Amino acid sequence: MSNLKEQQAIWEKHWTRLIDKEMNLDIPKPRRISIAFELLAKPKYGESILEAGSGLGLHTLHFAKRFNLRAVLLDISKKALCFSKRVAKSKGLSCDFVLGDVLNLPFVENSFDIVWNDGVNGYFQGKDRQRVFDEMIRVAAFHGRIVVIVPNKLSMLYWFLKLIRGYFIWGYSGFEDPFTPKELMKRMQKTKVGEILFVCKFAELWYMKPFRYLSQSVRIAICGEKAGPTRTN
Ligand SMILES: C[S@@+](CC[C@H](N)C(=O)[O-])C[C@H]1O[C@@H](n2cnc3c(N)ncnc32)[C@H](O)[C@@H]1O
Repeated sequence: MSNLKEQQAIWEKHWTRLIDKEMNLDIPKPRRISIAFELLAKPKYGESILEAGSGLGLHTLHFAKRFNLRAVLLDISKKALCFSKRVAKSKGLSCDFVLGDVLNLPFVENSFDIVWNDGVNGYFQGKDRQRVFDEMIRVAAFHGRIVVIVPNKLSMLYWFLKLIRGYFIWGYSGFEDPFTPKELMKRMQKTKVGEILFVCKFAELWYMKPFRYLSQSVRIAICGEKAGPTRTN
């Protein structure tokens, strides 16, 4: 997607339709995605976290509560952010909500211990496809973790579900280009700043219980650690 306004209009429509179906305000119990996130990001008590393209933000709110994280949720959809705010308020969580663009994150370098998202980076093509990674890495703190979860291009089940039920499952039928593990690794390692190195780990997510084995590779996750000055302790 090239035009930000156009992109915003699509997502606004998407979230309006979903949220108006009286979505439950409960913060969900840990699902496999949360377990994978926790294994990769290893959140520590009191750390800061940014979800870049937070949508409903339910996972980040869950992590914020569980690990007492200082959370910032960023999205281009006002509707989605309003929903997240309502959930946070109902759970007594104090978080920041930012209307913004993942391609131009409105934060200075090295701001967050954890920067993550789920199902966002596949919506970008061309130069923007790398730029989302670069921006996430830029705002991550030295030794901070960057976690990106995306659909797996090599998963037959992903294509099957997309073909027959994608629209209903994800509610969004527009452009999405999933990643191969190789591309995901390359995007995380590629950086404009030479001294940043990444440690990459993969986790396969068992996303949907009924398809437990088949769906192992529907989504893939990667975690990079941003290199910085050597730690003394
Ligand atoms: C598939 S949703 C994933 C949302 C989230 N992981 C969830 O579970 O609710 C993708 C999200 O990315 C957001 N998004 C798309 N393009 C964006 C951009 N340029 N800047 C910020 N957010 C963006 C959309 O508004 C949407 O909320």
